[in-house]
Amino acid sequence: FGMMTYDPAFMNTASCRSSITYIDGDKGILEYRGYPIEQLAEKSTYLEVAYLLIHGELPNQKQLDEWTYQITTHTFVHENLKQFCEGFRYDAHPMGMLLATTGALSTFYPDANKIDDPEIRYSHVVRLIAKMPTLAAFAYRHARGMPYVYPDNDLNYPGNFLGMLFKMTELKYQPDPRIERALDILFILHADHEQNCSTSAVRAVGSSQVDPYSAVAAGVAALYGPLHGGANEAVLRMLRRIGTLENVPAFVEGVKNGNERLMGFGHRVYKNYDPRAKIIKKACEDVFEVTGTSPLLDIAVELEKIALEDEYFVSRKLYPNVDFYSGLIYEALGMPVDMFPVLFAIPRTSGWIAQWLEMTQDKEQKIARPRQIYTGGRTLDYVPIGDR
Ligand code: CMC
Repeated sequence: FGMMTYDPAFMNTASCRSSITYIDGDKGILEYRGYPIEQLAEKSTYLEVAYLLIHGELPNQKQLDEWTYQITTHTFVHENLKQFCEGFRYDAHPMGMLLATTGALSTFYPDANKIDDPEIRYSHVVRLIAKMPTLAAFAYRHARGMPYVYPDNDLNYPGNFLGMLFKMTELKYQPDPRIERALDILFILHADHEQNCSTSAVRAVGSSQVDPYSAVAAGVAALYGPLHGGANEAVLRMLRRIGTLENVPAFVEGVKNGNERLMGFGHRVYKNYDPRAKIIKKACEDVFEVTGTSPLLDIAVELEKIALEDEYFVSRKLYPNVDFYSGLIYEALGMPVDMFPVLFAIPRTSGWIAQWLEMTQDKEQKIARPRQIYTGGRTLDYVPIGDR
């Protein structure tokens, strides 16, 4: 193949240089811009983390206030987007709707493709982060035949999103601060994860110098796939199927016999406890304090306990990943399973955009254009259709 290397799925190819997210899968380390995920989840907020990912450093108070103000005052979307949502069938999947509305955003900003102008570029970065929760909530409400709720700029980022989903009366929506904080932590944990499938999609599509809305829509599309954004839904279905604590040992035996996989366990990169899973487990307990516990949580805890002591899982380095507990929290928050990938896409937007910015500023980057190893026929003679 000459100088070419065959690397299907690019498992051994570094597609870029990046200073955004660091992962050490053997040690179970995840850092954004050098800051350990544990500290960010405990001490920071999603909006501050979004600033960190995009600007490369933590903001001072003035910078954070300004950033928060900018995001908060860009949460509204053009009224025509409501009409656009109306065009979807009553049972449209919210992720399919989000994919379409994100792409459609580009049509509302004629300067969206002027990505060489730093000020214009930045305005679209702010808009994308600000408007994703609004578009996501519209998709949710549409699927339920409920009127859309406009953003409430008095609320913080997760609180406003909860309000746009769940507000039922004319009264001001007041989120439970513990629920709001749990959602903010989930947003922090999902904000970036270096060159995963959707981020690679954003970079590849963005490398054609298309506008950032279209590039992010590509990320949403990639995240829609069950192997990427859909594992937490599979965990929930699995826990429901197991049903009771007594069924756990038999289920684990089935997994060991190769009948099925223990969903929410194992990871391509982490060969140790996924650091995000630890934080989510704790957040799970906080949420259940508010909402009342779920029997599924007991099943999950028991599954984890058995698996972590079992030779099958230990020898294969299979540990809980981010999805093992996140579905349980989402369900406790009242989210239907079809919203799970949407809840992933909202915070991942800041990571996608940070990666997109890094790519557009990187002089070494060219249009993404992998090569191939051709395996088809050659120099055939065209046969008239009657002779075939
Ligand atoms: N349950 C039981 N056995 C497993 C599991 C599991 N969840 N995951 C891997 N194994 C076994 C697998 O059968 C194989 O065993 P053997 O060597 O005997 O054939 C060995 O462990 C290695 O597995 P692999 O399939 O080569 O590992 P991979 O790196 O290709 O797959 C994975 C990673 C995440 C796709 C896989 O672990 C899996 O399917 N997990 C369940 C689905 C899941 O939770 N996905 C969410 C991933 S995290 C979300 C994100 O960050 O985007």
